[in-house]
Amino acid sequence: MIANPRLPVPTRPSKAYFYELFHRDMEQFAGAEVGADIAAATCKNLPCFRTKKYIAVDIDQQRLRQGIEKYRGRDDLPEAVPICADIREVDRHLAPRSVDVVVSTHTLHHLPASDRLPAVRLLTTLVRPGGSLILQMCETTDLTVRDVAAILEPEFSDLRIRRYRNAVSRAYESLIAGKDGQVTYRDDSASVRRWKSAASRGLRLLERCRLLGWTGDHAYIRADRRR
Ligand SMILES: C[S@@+](CC[C@H](N)C(=O)[O-])C[C@H]1O[C@@H](n2cnc3c(N)ncnc32)[C@H](O)[C@@H]1O
Repeated sequence: MIANPRLPVPTRPSKAYFYELFHRDMEQFAGAEVGADIAAATCKNLPCFRTKKYIAVDIDQQRLRQGIEKYRGRDDLPEAVPICADIREVDRHLAPRSVDVVVSTHTLHHLPASDRLPAVRLLTTLVRPGGSLILQMCETTDLTVRDVAAILEPEFSDLRIRRYRNAVSRAYESLIAGKDGQVTYRDDSASVRRWKSAASRGLRLLERCRLLGWTGDHAYIRADRRR
């Protein structure tokens, strides 16, 4: 994990580029009433939320509890409301068109294949008119960026898609990753930590390169101005 002073959450290099985009975008919702983090796990995204209320939905109650506990007493963060629920039935817990910004990150591809696109449709129904949806997804045959865009385009006035993570950035990350594919700093000497931090910054620069983005299989999708 890296503690990058420019990001509010410690994260590994492969997710640092995502957090750079996400953190920047979430600043724009400062002061909005309600943000919902769908499949929030341990609420890692919470420090990026600037809405007055943060609703954390996850099917795993224990993770949710850990997450809420982790940030207890942080009065610089939004009021956190945990909801233990299945993403596929989230409309039982949240009213349609009631949320200013709905977020779901690193999750859709974990759902059974046939549930992935219906889940995107369902999340869309939660966004209030004028509100936004931010999705981070990993492309699979059952969840393509094109299919997701086809769902979102008629519902939102603005749609922005940024692809990232391709063979080049993966190869680059493997230079600093351990055998398990993760980059950790725990047992490193100061000089190795410095090298890994510099290499991680290099990885984010690489991800920013638009040319490489064309072939990325991860996508950061931001849909604004719900009709
Ligand atoms: C890889 S984690 C992503 C967590 C977080 N969004 C992030 O970006 O770090 C996936 C989360 O999805 C949750 N999850 C999986 N299937 C779910 C479902 N059907 N309904 C709600 N949550 C689900 C898991 O419990 C887990 O916490």
